[in-house]
Amino acid sequence: SGRTEARLEAVRDAFRHAWKGYKDYAWGHDELKPISRTFGEWFGLGLTIIDSLDTMWILGLREEFAEARDWIEKELSFDKNVDVNLFETTIRVLGGLLSTYNLTGDQLFLDKAKDIGARLMPAFKTPSKIPFSDVNIGKGTAHPPRWTSDSTLAEVTSIQLEFRELSRLTQDPQYQEVVNEVMKLVHKLPGKHDGLVPMFINTNSGQFTHKGVFTLGARADSYYEYLLKQWIQGGKMEDDLLEDYLQAVEGVKKHLVRQTGSGRLTFVGELSHTRFNPKMDHLVCFLPGTLALGAHNGLPGDHMDLAVQLMETCHQMYKQMETGLSPEIAHFNLQASDGLDIFVKPADRHNLLRPETVESLFYMYRFTKDTKYRDWGWNILESFNNHTKVPGGGYTSINNVRDIENPAPRDKMESFFLGETLKYFYLLFSDDMELLNLDKYVFNTEAHAFPIWPSPPK
Ligand SMILES: *[C@@H]1O[C@H](CO)[C@@H](O)[C@H](O)[C@H]1NC(C)=O
Ligand SMILES: *[C@@H]1O[C@H](CO)[C@@H](O)[C@H](O)[C@H]1NC(C)=O
Repeated sequence: SGRTEARLEAVRDAFRHAWKGYKDYAWGHDELKPISRTFGEWFGLGLTIIDSLDTMWILGLREEFAEARDWIEKELSFDKNVDVNLFETTIRVLGGLLSTYNLTGDQLFLDKAKDIGARLMPAFKTPSKIPFSDVNIGKGTAHPPRWTSDSTLAEVTSIQLEFRELSRLTQDPQYQEVVNEVMKLVHKLPGKHDGLVPMFINTNSGQFTHKGVFTLGARADSYYEYLLKQWIQGGKMEDDLLEDYLQAVEGVKKHLVRQTGSGRLTFVGELSHTRFNPKMDHLVCFLPGTLALGAHNGLPGDHMDLAVQLMETCHQMYKQMETGLSPEIAHFNLQASDGLDIFVKPADRHNLLRPETVESLFYMYRFTKDTKYRDWGWNILESFNNHTKVPGGGYTSINNVRDIENPAPRDKMESFFLGETLKYFYLLFSDDMELLNLDKYVFNTEAHAFPIWPSPPK
């Protein structure tokens, strides 16, 4: 219909605007700083280009895609003396290349994926086989962060989809073996709390550290997501993954899910040494989508009920803010007396153009066809346009979602805005259900799509 096409075109416009800023002021560098009209460098790998490839393909922006491909072919080199974060490089770079290879069938992307995959392997040479967080892709050396020998739990358990797919495509089992070993170790590890996991794991001992703190937000989030998604990727045959996922959802329901006192908004809080903290990161808004995906794949119907309730809460985290944009962290009011359900601490009022709510809206729309999810998404896109769009090119993260007059731009456009947020908007508004059909593809935690493996002949 006319409205659908207008919304899809608005997403393309947003992408073109973001891309223009990147091209004019940051080309070949990791990220655009759209206010100062310069770039930010993290690993020096042109992250925004690699993260955006499959989005451009899906949006049908063939000219932009051709420029990006050209850069990958002629300029991108991984033979660099640079420390990269294993997780971020896996989900953005390896993930982006593998996904683009699938969509285009262009060998260039598979060759580049093999190159970076091989260069990340030294990270796994640790006493415990739990990988280090950082690896030098030029020298082939790896190390933990300077201040600790711990790795973040979500980081070591959210690289599996990518390494497994790389093994399948190259027929070289080494990638799959190292990441499966991590899952095996974590599966057996004591210290879980009804399936919930601590946020850190030690690379020497292979044991959890900083025990007793449980969150679905930063440092744990995608552990849960990848349990389900690996199970789906592999054709629903790996029972340990399913068992751990089902147990974790029960743990979430038992220990972390609460409702606000007045508006009855369902949220996922945190547990810190048995004390409940009614605080939820925007990152947790991946969960309604993941729960819905599980239910779609035959898991209990009450997962879907929880997804519907959490989706409403994530929507309210946008709607109740003056800019229509969610803060990074929300606090919830368990009391019935005072009317406010959500409040935001001054230090938590930033918005980084994150994708998780749009991502979940996409899953919810695909599985329910309820158009309210599209309308909620449309409001979010309009709010990004109204408060984060930078004249001249690019979008910026902001410091204050509660101030319409001065949202206080932070001068940074993360690569995930193009790689994830805009892609999920497009998929949410598109009527084409064959476009990355969720029975054929599984998305990694950076919105890059991998095929669900064909089942072996029975
Ligand atoms: C964005 O701004 C336009 C133009 O001022 C306005 O019509 C629209 O309602 C705004 N959208 C949102 C979600 O704030
Ligand atoms: C990409 O994934 C789809 C869906 O699973 C599959 O049918 C197709 O063969 C894959 N393409 C390539 C180039 O591997």
